[in-house]
Amino acid sequence: MADNPVASHYSNNQILESILSGLKKAGVDAGSVSVEDLGPVDEFHTGGRLATEHLLKDLHFDTHKQILDIGCGIGGTSRFLAHKFDATVTGIDLTSEYIAAGNTLNQWVSLEKRINLQCGDANNIPSDNASFDAAVMLHVGMNIEDKARLFTEVARLLRTGGTFAIYDVMQKSESEINFPLPWASDESMSFLEPVEHYKRCLEGAGFSIENTVGRGEFAENFFQKMFEAAKSSDGPPAIGLHLLVGPSIKEKMQNFSQAIFDGLVEPTEIIARKL
Ligand SMILES: C[S@@+](CC[C@H](N)C(=O)[O-])C[C@H]1O[C@@H](n2cnc3c(N)ncnc32)[C@H](O)[C@@H]1O
Repeated sequence: MADNPVASHYSNNQILESILSGLKKAGVDAGSVSVEDLGPVDEFHTGGRLATEHLLKDLHFDTHKQILDIGCGIGGTSRFLAHKFDATVTGIDLTSEYIAAGNTLNQWVSLEKRINLQCGDANNIPSDNASFDAAVMLHVGMNIEDKARLFTEVARLLRTGGTFAIYDVMQKSESEINFPLPWASDESMSFLEPVEHYKRCLEGAGFSIENTVGRGEFAENFFQKMFEAAKSSDGPPAIGLHLLVGPSIKEKMQNFSQAIFDGLVEPTEIIARKL
């Protein structure tokens, strides 16, 4: 997927070196890294692990044995799922550097036997029909234009009754938004849609909608705290998303947080069930 513009936007082939030096700064020994230690760098969505916990809190994921993580990035959510719920997780992501780094991180935390991260397109996942109990997708749909097709693919892969938990940045207003953003260098790779569009596409693909939750207030608090912490410190924290995104993170996060404060977008959860 090397020549795909979305994969190029995310590509960073120094991920492991950067994370290792961050861990060292934080005083974490490379031989005893935990899933918790990696949380600040490996959950690339608004609010990080706190947001993941909120998304999954009432979904009984402890009963789900096979879980699909769509657009898994470097696999933070996959590791959290495998670790917390004792599940087997398959992650799919377009960005080969993320997959390579993610599989190494799985080894660091001894989860490589329960997590398989693969490079591929979420619209065409190489797994059998009805092979998963649940699927998660965190901050990925903004990069995928044809959501009806994407959700039809997810419906194919889930067993009847399977849960699909989405946490995406959704459009609140059609006013112009400034780039770059964390998920897109420019508008050619950003496909924001309102929550109603997601719901229509999900229902059309054979899901019922169980719940939708706007996380705008949570996101505003998250960014306020982040900017306050930045003001009162000399530099970024030892372990954080800057290790994954690089120096452009400042401008991307400023544009994104401004769009949230201006009411243009809102990180939103949708819980859907395969009929
Ligand atoms: C903002 S990151 C979120 C990563 C991860 N879900 C997380 O929360 O840490 C978006 C991810 O979606 C992936 N992605 C975008 N379009 C994709 C597609 N069509 N198929 C698979 N992955 C895709 C990108 O490569 C990137 O890793």
